[in-house]
Amino acid sequence: MNRHLVTLDDLTPHDVETLFEAAAELKAKRRQGVLHPLLSGKTLAMIFEKPSLRTRVTFEAGMTQLGGHAVYLTPTDIRLGERETVQDAARNLERWVDGIVARTFSHQMVERLAGYARVPVINGLTDRHHPVQILCDLFTLWEKRGRVRGLRVAFIGDGNNVCHSWLEGAAKMGLNFTLACPKGYEPNPEVLTRAMAEATTSGATLAVMHDPEVAARGADVLYTDVWASMGQEDERARRLRDFQGFQVDGRLVRLAASDVLVMHCLPAHRGEEIADDVIEGPHSIVFDEAENRLHMQKAILVHLLGGRG
Ligand code: CP
Ligand code: NVA
Repeated sequence: MNRHLVTLDDLTPHDVETLFEAAAELKAKRRQGVLHPLLSGKTLAMIFEKPSLRTRVTFEAGMTQLGGHAVYLTPTDIRLGERETVQDAARNLERWVDGIVARTFSHQMVERLAGYARVPVINGLTDRHHPVQILCDLFTLWEKRGRVRGLRVAFIGDGNNVCHSWLEGAAKMGLNFTLACPKGYEPNPEVLTRAMAEATTSGATLAVMHDPEVAARGADVLYTDVWASMGQEDERARRLRDFQGFQVDGRLVRLAASDVLVMHCLPAHRGEEIADDVIEGPHSIVFDEAENRLHMQKAILVHLLGGRG
């Protein structure tokens, strides 16, 4: 496994399988009340330029449960690249802590942190990628279906950071992934091209289309995310118009497989990208998915931070 987790390209399919097993074990231990202080004495710095509920709380609670500690740094605390250079921030942090989680606007910022820091850097979401989310999502599917290879995932919405990491994850692990987005909201062509190349070796299929009904037909998983991501607040009105017809609603659920799983990385805007009765309905696994942020990220922390002096 690479030292950093900046995108899913840092992991092999074997690494991902290893993380599934480790996350399942950590989840069972927590459920049984068995202590697991695998990162006793370790400290994680968490740099957040954007808001977060799930990522922040799961990494912080995860470190506590592993016997370590997390330090949360708000944008006003650190102001990467403004108060001091990214390089200097990295070269300070690496002297004190055992790992860094960073949620930044620019993806380059996390790449640069990883380039400078001699401790592991984990991407907690950038404008380009959200790798830990997709590892948690894949783990959730692995738990529910016993496998991920061959599953048909229809992502209905924006070709955004979550979609980019899904393209990489699906390509790596051999899923059949279709994005249905409005014209003009396709994924970044570089990310798509790289994922397509990886898909040829894994046997995955990847497709981008503009018809949500065609994408949803027969799908094992219906996945969605907000139409306006953090940082795109001023585009919200236009996006609300452009994404009409792309809501995951009862009509799409009926077109999908009869046992379709409905997923959403959350936070959800009910009545926009997902209908209230769908997120609350029998196919929805969004809170199991959210729970697994904790278990999978603990597995990631143990693999990246464990065993370091
Ligand atoms: N899904 C997710 O990353 O949630 P937060 O933005 O609340 O961390
Ligand atoms: N695409 C969303 C994901 C939030 C977890 C955003 O970047 O805001």
